[in-house]
Amino acid sequence: MLTVVRMECLDGSRSLRNRFLTALDNALQGEEVREFQNARVFMEYLMKREGGAMAEEADARERRNAREQGELKVLFAAELPQSGWNMQVLELNGFLHAHQDLLEGWCGAVLICGENEQFTKRTGRDIIFAANDAGCAFPGKPLCEGTGSLYNWRTMARRMDVDVEQAFLRGARFLVEKLLDFQLPEVEHQDVLMIHASSRKTSNSLLLWEMIEKEIKKRDPHAETHEISLRNGAVVDCRGCSYETCRHFGENADCFYGGVMVEQVYPALLKCDSIMLVCPNYNDAVSANIAAFFNRLTALYSAHDFSRKKVYALVVSGYSGGDIVAEQVMGAMNCNKNFILPPHFCLLETANDPKSILQCENIEDRAARMAAEIVGR
Ligand SMILES: Cc1cc2nc3c(=O)[nH]c(=O)nc-3n(C[C@H](O)[C@H](O)[C@H](O)COP(=O)(O)O)c2cc1C
Repeated sequence: MLTVVRMECLDGSRSLRNRFLTALDNALQGEEVREFQNARVFMEYLMKREGGAMAEEADARERRNAREQGELKVLFAAELPQSGWNMQVLELNGFLHAHQDLLEGWCGAVLICGENEQFTKRTGRDIIFAANDAGCAFPGKPLCEGTGSLYNWRTMARRMDVDVEQAFLRGARFLVEKLLDFQLPEVEHQDVLMIHASSRKTSNSLLLWEMIEKEIKKRDPHAETHEISLRNGAVVDCRGCSYETCRHFGENADCFYGGVMVEQVYPALLKCDSIMLVCPNYNDAVSANIAAFFNRLTALYSAHDFSRKKVYALVVSGYSGGDIVAEQVMGAMNCNKNFILPPHFCLLETANDPKSILQCENIEDRAARMAAEIVGR
């Protein structure tokens, strides 16, 4: 059974409402659905689940069974008016960030219908980030968005030989089918590829990875970890070849520029189960080398399936803004490049002076929890 959380807005136009309802109807056709008419009733339902008869052990058992049977699937569906702000979405996101295990055992997807050309991606990403913080997993490309003009569906419409309206409706339906089919892959011994661009002598984020790596090995001595450094000068940014050229290179696990991406990253990536991105906050974004890594993945992605691989991230900020960096990683790797977003995909820490991460309170506990998420024990 699919759970749907419907988040309409008060200040949208009639045409927005029509498109939203048509997209939702089309997405849900023939499915057995439990629908929540607004975010508030869904939040009340979650709280009741948590505090009521299903609490503690009974709830854990129910979640495990539901996960095994592929239940606990949720579609977050939202309208976005001209202003780009839907108050129900804000309330839901705040609630989920404040209750960090309420969606444990759930898998999700997001459908957004916008009044204008902006804000749909940001809103979708915010919902995914908040729900993931509360323990919800997401399949790759879990966001289906319709901008006001549906221009974002032009390329797909051309490929499908339909108009943009039809392409969007098909995209919405495909999203629900994907969510219903989705299962988190179970791997006996994880093969984790860690990518970084930091200097080992001083790096807080690398120290954090070392703590996690130690815990991974402790929990599963057969787990494998591999490390690739993209230090300055090792990786150049994407050249922006045509789609055909890029795909042609990708089919041979190659890319126009070659180098470390083709020689080391591509083969390791094809082999791994999970990728861990180690990301210090540089101007409220990932560093240029990690950004180049995202862009240079395009060739491999165009010809290979990443939909069974998971992405994790470590984000260390000197002051603040780690959430922005985490959303950037999530946007590139999960929303664009089709990697699975496992529950609690990112560990966010604040530490500025070299090695000061070791002084963060209870850092070992958080590192151990992250390792447990990765190895599944
Ligand atoms: C170029 C550069 C830009 C930075 N920008 C930010 C920033 O925008 N916000 C912030 O909180 N910290 C910022 N920092 C601080 C780092 O995020 C912080 O020192 C972190 O511990 C670095 O991790 P590392 O030791 O693994 O490189 C910046 C550091 C550098 C070198």
